[in-house]
Amino acid sequence: MGPLVVANWKMNGSEQLLKTVVREVGGLAEATVVLALPAAYLSLPKGFPDTSIEWAGQNVHWLDSGPYTGEVSVGMLAELGVGWCLVGHSERRQHFAETDDLVLAKTKACLELGIRPIVCVGENLQERKAGKALEVVSRQLLAVLNGVPSALAQWIVVAYEPVWAIGTGEEASPEIAQEVHEALKRAARSNIKALELRVLYGGSVNADNASALMRMPDVDGVLVGGASLEAVGFRRLCEQVAGSV
Ligand code: PGA
Repeated sequence: MGPLVVANWKMNGSEQLLKTVVREVGGLAEATVVLALPAAYLSLPKGFPDTSIEWAGQNVHWLDSGPYTGEVSVGMLAELGVGWCLVGHSERRQHFAETDDLVLAKTKACLELGIRPIVCVGENLQERKAGKALEVVSRQLLAVLNGVPSALAQWIVVAYEPVWAIGTGEEASPEIAQEVHEALKRAARSNIKALELRVLYGGSVNADNASALMRMPDVDGVLVGGASLEAVGFRRLCEQVAGSV
């Protein structure tokens, strides 16, 4: 599999923006482009049956069904043809009190129905300054890997998103990303033998810094927030990532 670009629209975008983005990046061959849309837009991809773009939810509940107003189940995502879902984004951990246990439950629910979880991990500024970055991200990763059936772990993609780099315009240097990605892959291998974990970098990625990040041996792709909301710039970014192979 080539490099992966995951666009996280968060609570942004419109039907019109979706049309424009599909037109701009829908034919890209050398990278897999996944759009993580707000739940309200996840039925729109049915209008683009021929595009190469793949689709992701931004969040999902861990149970099949029930009295959980406002929530969406994995089965509902699967029914719409959604193949991926973000799990444990730092904004969910921070604003919606998602714990490592909840992240595990959601990851398991996705794997059981064949939806590929993109599990987000990342330290905050205080933790980085205290020299605890690797400890924090390893804990977040192992909370998931220790709880999923090892045969299914290969379907998980991890996104390293340092909280201090998200939406701040201050991306982690390629060297920092490489150090953390390497540590995550090592932790994964020591937990599940021969697991080739794919790790994306996220946090202020744009068309100007994507190439340098992608040159790092353990950066397998990027997770993009703000820079995915402007179609032409996003196409440039995708081309940089595609050109890195
Ligand atoms: P950003 O967001 O690219 O706007 O920093 C990344 C993310 O939160 O996924």
